[in-house]
Amino acid sequence: MKHRKLVILGTGGTIAGKADHAADNIGYTAAKVGIDQLLAAIPALTGSGLFISEQVSQVDSKDMSFDVWAQLAARVRHFLADDDVQGIVITHGTDTLEETAYFLQSVCQPAKPVVLTCAMRPATALAPDGPQNVMDAVAVARHPEACGVVAVCAGTVHSALDVQKVHPYKLDAFSSGDAGPVGYVEEGRLRLLRNWPFPQTGIACAAIEKVATWPRVEIVMNYAGASALMVQALVDQGVRGLVVAGTGNGTIHEDLQAGLLRAQASGVRIVRSTRCLEGRILPLSGNAIADSQGLSPVKARIALMLDLVAQDATSSAVGQA
Ligand code: SIN
Repeated sequence: MKHRKLVILGTGGTIAGKADHAADNIGYTAAKVGIDQLLAAIPALTGSGLFISEQVSQVDSKDMSFDVWAQLAARVRHFLADDDVQGIVITHGTDTLEETAYFLQSVCQPAKPVVLTCAMRPATALAPDGPQNVMDAVAVARHPEACGVVAVCAGTVHSALDVQKVHPYKLDAFSSGDAGPVGYVEEGRLRLLRNWPFPQTGIACAAIEKVATWPRVEIVMNYAGASALMVQALVDQGVRGLVVAGTGNGTIHEDLQAGLLRAQASGVRIVRSTRCLEGRILPLSGNAIADSQGLSPVKARIALMLDLVAQDATSSAVGQA
């Protein structure tokens, strides 16, 4: 079978990190090594003429911004439209990888594979994990049935919907929670454990490219002694949406809940999620605050932002009619 091209987009992260000493796995600076240099260190990939590489950004993903997301979505859309491109691999920092994965899945809903990969050790480490992760990501992107946005780390494939960083140091830093991984990559072969996750519906990528100002949506957390103070401060700053990372089944301290209900009555969109790492909120009838439909707080925030963007686009279209 003729191999079509794979696109490898670099965005930064530890995978592109540099430390002063090879033995230093934590005192490095992320996002220093260019994508071409990273790929040159993986001889098995170079020289085939089957890869197109591009540096989209060079950031430590803790500093990820809406501008980088919009730029990345535009490049993904551009390459996916090319019939000669089989799929896309994106190198990314681990810290906000799950957010970028969910964002790209929501706005691109790709029929081809878009595989995010990363590393927990910098490129200069004695035994960097980045090259193997890239090789595994390429194996997934080459799989004939692969589709949608997935993340690959430490030989495990996670869906954009379920993936979460759960460890600050281990090489196998991600989990899909109780949904379980999509599969494993073993010696360049993908062992699929479940169906490819269905792309969800979301806002069209083209609409994202037109967003001038992103609606401000923040996250507040429930905890012992939580109050409405933070909610009021955010409402005073003009926040348009709030996601509450509730306790357990999305429960909220009565004082915080009173503040959230006041904010909701004044037009701020509120969504209830859980700070639990596994499982999802089970809806209770009569709850005045909508639940996140199984999304973690950070992903519920992106969903709410995209919903507000779609709502703004509809009202401006109605205004112009
Ligand atoms: C980052 O997220 O860019 C730095 C941390 C990492 O990639 O592990």
